[in-house]
Amino acid sequence: QDIPVIAIDGPSASGKGTVAQRVAAKLGFHYLDSGALYRLAALAAMRSGIELKDEHALSEVAAHLNVVFADAEIRLDNENVTDVIRSEECGNAASRVAAYPLVRAALLERQRAFCQIPGLVADGRDMGSVVFPAAILKVFLTATAETRAQRRYKQLMEKGMDANIATLLQDIRERDARDSNRSIAPLQLGAGTHLLDTTSLDINQAVDRVLCLYAEIS
Ligand code: C5P
Repeated sequence: QDIPVIAIDGPSASGKGTVAQRVAAKLGFHYLDSGALYRLAALAAMRSGIELKDEHALSEVAAHLNVVFADAEIRLDNENVTDVIRSEECGNAASRVAAYPLVRAALLERQRAFCQIPGLVADGRDMGSVVFPAAILKVFLTATAETRAQRRYKQLMEKGMDANIATLLQDIRERDARDSNRSIAPLQLGAGTHLLDTTSLDINQAVDRVLCLYAEIS
């Protein structure tokens, strides 16, 4: 039986995580936050003192991640790291770690295992291109870098974390460049993928667009 997958890819801080989660909740589907896996791999590596250049050691860490995705929290080695992995430090480290083919390979099956009845909404950079190429709906969710920096700023403030908007914008631009220009699984708008620019949309409007696209094909 074909299990429907909705792939939502896009650059950092585009809002794809929130949109994907809400679409999943509306449809009663499972949800995969693939970026969290790269963030967890980076965090686990940093905690073990592994250099972010050591591809082999990084892939070992990625392959043996002891992670639990509970309802509202993510646990690494039985510690709640839900907020820790959202830091800019972890995001930047994740983007470095994610450029290594061995790391991506180590996380591939773990991602595919999320595809279970009745369906899955998966967000990341290569959900539609690599992990779930047969996804029934592929969306590329984006917004201008300035809008994304503002959204990330607001998000960090709400979590009581320290942030500077100029630094965030610079980080976002660097991360965009790294994620889009890497040789393996780059972030790209692929054929058959719907472009959804959320610069002037709020979350509810973005969620509705995705649900409409899904309703048209299901
Ligand atoms: O989406 P998020 O910002 O949490 O992802 C963190 C980093 O993980 C990204 O900058 C990207 O380099 C990497 N990533 C990836 N492929 C995915 C999801 C995330 O390379 N499917």
